Amino acid sequence: MPIIFHKKTKEFHLYNEKISYIFKILANGHPGHIYYGRRLTDRDSFGGMIEYALRDMAPCAFEGNSTFSLEHLQQEYPSFGSGDMRFPAFELERQDGSRVVDFKYQKHEIYAGKKKLPGLPAVYVEKETEAQTLEVTLEDAQLGARIVLSYTIFEAFPVIARNTCFYCGREGITLLNAMSGSLDLPDKDYEMVELAGAWSRERHVHIRPLAYGIQSIYSLRGCSSHQFNPFLALKRKNADEHSGEVIGASLIYSGDFLAQVEVDNFDVTRLIMGIHPNEFRWELRPGEHFQTPEMILAYSENGLNDMSQTFHKLYRTRLARGKWRDKARPILINNWEATYFDFNEEKILALAQKAAEIGIELFVLDDGWFGKRNDATSSLGDWQVNREKLPSGMKSLAERINQMGMGFGLWIEPEMVNKDSNLFREHPDWVLADSRRNYCHSRNQYVLDFSKSEVVDHIHGQIRKVLGEANISYVKWDMNRSFSEVFSNGKDRSWQGKARHQYILGVYSLYERLTQEFPDILFESCASGGARFDPGILYYAPQGWTSDDTDAVERIKIQYGTSYVYPLSSMGSHVSASPNHQLYRHTSLETRANVAYFGTFGYELDLTELSEEELLTMKGQISFMKRYRELIQGGVFYRIKNPFEHNSSAWMVVSKDQTEALAAYFRVLQPTQAGFERIRLAGLRADWEYAVTEEMGGTEQCLGEDRHFGDELMYGGLSVSDVSSGLRGVAREKQGDFLSRLFHLKKI
Ligand code: DGJ
Repeated sequence: MPIIFHKKTKEFHLYNEKISYIFKILANGHPGHIYYGRRLTDRDSFGGMIEYALRDMAPCAFEGNSTFSLEHLQQEYPSFGSGDMRFPAFELERQDGSRVVDFKYQKHEIYAGKKKLPGLPAVYVEKETEAQTLEVTLEDAQLGARIVLSYTIFEAFPVIARNTCFYCGREGITLLNAMSGSLDLPDKDYEMVELAGAWSRERHVHIRPLAYGIQSIYSLRGCSSHQFNPFLALKRKNADEHSGEVIGASLIYSGDFLAQVEVDNFDVTRLIMGIHPNEFRWELRPGEHFQTPEMILAYSENGLNDMSQTFHKLYRTRLARGKWRDKARPILINNWEATYFDFNEEKILALAQKAAEIGIELFVLDDGWFGKRNDATSSLGDWQVNREKLPSGMKSLAERINQMGMGFGLWIEPEMVNKDSNLFREHPDWVLADSRRNYCHSRNQYVLDFSKSEVVDHIHGQIRKVLGEANISYVKWDMNRSFSEVFSNGKDRSWQGKARHQYILGVYSLYERLTQEFPDILFESCASGGARFDPGILYYAPQGWTSDDTDAVERIKIQYGTSYVYPLSSMGSHVSASPNHQLYRHTSLETRANVAYFGTFGYELDLTELSEEELLTMKGQISFMKRYRELIQGGVFYRIKNPFEHNSSAWMVVSKDQTEALAAYFRVLQPTQAGFERIRLAGLRADWEYAVTEEMGGTEQCLGEDRHFGDELMYGGLSVSDVSSGLRGVAREKQGDFLSRLFHLKKI
């Protein structure tokens, strides 16, 4: 997995078994992009791939030369005002207002391994031999300012990790735009894949063909958002889940972002990704520097599934950290949808007792345990136990739950405050809002100004005390509103352009402190469900609450979309009540569990109101999940049939050694006179024979057994028809809407 510098041609070639990434220092000293894609044989020069165009009206860099124009050359990190008319990867302003820059190659360094990004989440190596890093330093001689472009190539992943660092020179500068990376591609024959949605409809898959001009997704909400995820993929038009060329781009960041694709009028495509430049203005004085977040580019020549599997493995093993990274996740019960704010110690203990009886391993006490909080109007910011609700205190409650054989977990929302709180009364200027004006509430709450270290320190003190005083083994860290009138009270003008990024650095620093101080605690991130389900948070919390929508049918789409980037081990997925609290839909307990198995798994409903029969079914589901969670959370995930395109859908997870798999089939509405249907499985060994059983998790029954070779299952397909000969059909009495089926495969 070398990084090679061809001195004569000033070309860099980064390659491993699967990919090549090539660029060169152009005649004007700027880095010019040549290629990213399938591995190429190394050679001294790939210069033939650079097209110098003779085009009228183009601004050209050299007198007497009419072909060297940055308007038409592919670049690594383009600036505006240098002949290039496209959207730049960065922009800065000098003291006198000039934005003209000229950053030229100065030096480079290649080293084994990968450095950490101080204060920011990033992928990492465990051994230096896993990756190599190239740092290219560009300098603007007039300013003395430098830009360091960093590229890491891993031996085992078809990815390039990029980030950029700006160093101020003799003269102070203001960064107006500082993307993490940029990628110019020689044609526009791609479709843009994005994950978009809203609260309780997160990460639905949308695909659009590229068109001339700019197409982008973004967040200016202070969090990565329900609306868009910091990810996009460019796929060839013929690429599908299993074949075709795809480039995935993912930003390891949890705040405002921009992911943008521009197609110019000569069909060149430019992808840029980074902190959103609106609202961003970062002044640098001599001696200071600015580090961008990291951007991951993943290349696949085998379709979207392959791209996703790369992200899953990279993020599960080289982004997530800590004790829980590789461990099977505890099966939990969360009291939110069981009680909402209306609970007391008695109710909690009764719920916990039932949970323990059916084999649940962790009890999570959600919102409402602190201050005077009985609804959403008060107490955020006052992280002391509410003794009216929990008279024996947190320590004793945790102990009693521990005695039942379960771990105890707690919900917090450290970044927020209610006006009705002691914290707000003492520090009204700690809100991230212009306190001289009216500012919006959202769910009656306000954002604390985490750009200020004293605010983070104060909250840290409170939360550390809570976590230190009771035996807490899990924390759900929530964040329930977007930013609106952002202003950092009492800070000067230059701080205001930094506040949004400083805020997220404050969040990361609190996460870092708490995860270091409490290394045994499993952290789960949450933001009104999935508004901050991004790679940045995954660095601190190995799992996240995927969505507040717990309806099994909607969850199929949400989890399917989420799996484009995020591993099953990161997806919080619970069985909730029927009718469902968000959609009022009735679904069977079996279907609810069959969807929730494909994640971290838990329950979120009032067990004290269920029948003995239902509890018995859940007991079966829990032991089923205990048996298969290593396979599910650590195996290779395949999307088989797309719920956005069909009435039915399917996915499966295969063990790394391909000896075992679980496949799930879901059908929304029952068709009349249903046609025959087969799902073509994936990831099996063609020449191995598998025993296929249909599983009923809840009753621990399996309905018969068939034997098939892998090739038959992958190329012929597994029949899921209602009535079929040969393979199993669905009994008439089981047919109906919201059907789900689960198949276990084991190598014979
Ligand atoms: C939003 C979360 O997504 C829910 O699961 C729950 O924790 C509530 N907040 C509590 O306020």
